[in-house]
Amino acid sequence: MAQDQYEYQISSPEFKANPYPAYQKFRETPSFVQVPSPMGKSYFITRREDAEAALREPRFSTNPHTIMPPELIAQVFSDTEFMRAFLTSMMLQDPPDHTRLRRLVNVAFTPRKMEMWAGRVQAITDALLDELPAYGAIDLIESFAYPLPMRVFSEVLGIPVPDREQFRVWSVSFGDSLGDPVKTHSIQPQMADFLQYIYWLIDEKTAHPTQDLISDLIQAEAEGTRLNRQELVGMIITLLIAGNETTVNLISNGMYVLFQHPEQLALLKQDPTLIKGAVEEILRYRGAATNGSERWVQEDFEFRGHHFKKGESVYISIASVNRDAAYCPHAETFDITRKDNQHLAFGFGIHYCLGAPLARIEGQIAIQSLLRRYPNIRANADLGSLRWRPGSTLLGLEKLPVTL
Ligand code: HEM
Repeated sequence: MAQDQYEYQISSPEFKANPYPAYQKFRETPSFVQVPSPMGKSYFITRREDAEAALREPRFSTNPHTIMPPELIAQVFSDTEFMRAFLTSMMLQDPPDHTRLRRLVNVAFTPRKMEMWAGRVQAITDALLDELPAYGAIDLIESFAYPLPMRVFSEVLGIPVPDREQFRVWSVSFGDSLGDPVKTHSIQPQMADFLQYIYWLIDEKTAHPTQDLISDLIQAEAEGTRLNRQELVGMIITLLIAGNETTVNLISNGMYVLFQHPEQLALLKQDPTLIKGAVEEILRYRGAATNGSERWVQEDFEFRGHHFKKGESVYISIASVNRDAAYCPHAETFDITRKDNQHLAFGFGIHYCLGAPLARIEGQIAIQSLLRRYPNIRANADLGSLRWRPGSTLLGLEKLPVTL
């Protein structure tokens, strides 16, 4: 099997449409398979037990600076003020830097803040549903799943209303360029404007703090340190990248798998209190992230019977480990009443998703409110023909045509 493994284009829409038989084969392969990645090839970690061990292993680092010389970093990410700020992101740091950044941002994600946001998410969802037609055909992503998290985030961050559309355009350009060095370079003039806007926003909120995340981040202090200006920018960009498209995918993948399983959809409509379990099962069965961030091997070492060499890289296949029958009985069955659902859709270990509570609130409110408002909603296309977006990290559809 060794030769064939490079043929699995894990980022391609075709592979992402139904990767599950391949995952099963990979899990049954005694060693680790290799798949293509932006830097050449990567080892692919597909079993649950291996994934947990890898996510605990400090010699697998998310920080590219630890193995790439500065010239290569500049080539891959662009050497601009904007990108240097992005590279301070906690997603791309190891302890102790990661620990310090995470502690500082935690103050903005307390249960009390979550409660405050939950109320806003419901209000924003209702307003968005009011804008939809009473009946007819729409693309659920364009009209609902996509604008919802963007509106929630603009409000959570505290972006002034007139600037929200431009802010959205900048965020989307940056998100779409990630993993593609040519695109990353070409959008840098636009990103220079984005950076100036974020600086302006930080100055405004330093002078006049309000009840929002950017004001909280500016004031956050832990163990006598604060986020410096570059880190603040890095944190804002990280939250945009990590929090928007993931939530779009949670809502749209959720409706997609419910359409695929009409008996489960009927069950949820009949008993809306099942929504929490339904969202957990959606996250497990077709979650919003297909892999974790790429991780780089810090030194030669032996990991679960394989000898890894410094500079190699690994991907942790979240979508595969969530279907690993060794930890989840009937893993290939979509069951919204499943008990003890210990999925890894939000990762595991020190990089465990910071926004998981907000994502859960948004997923639950969005799907529940949509089904309440449109109890007869159904797919308006052959589900097998829908196209998945390319990319090695996220898992989401391009369009989801529905009849309301
Ligand atoms: C369904 C929605 C979401 C999913 C499936 C998801 C998934 C993940 C995963 C798998 C990781 C770990 C990545 C790794 O270890 O390589 C992660 C990290 C992260 N997520 Fe999420 N996420 C979601 C929504 C959000 C939201 C709404 C926010 C922000 C409000 C957010 C912010 C973050 C941040 C900042 C990190 C990095 C944490 C760290 O490095 O310590 N995510 N997310």
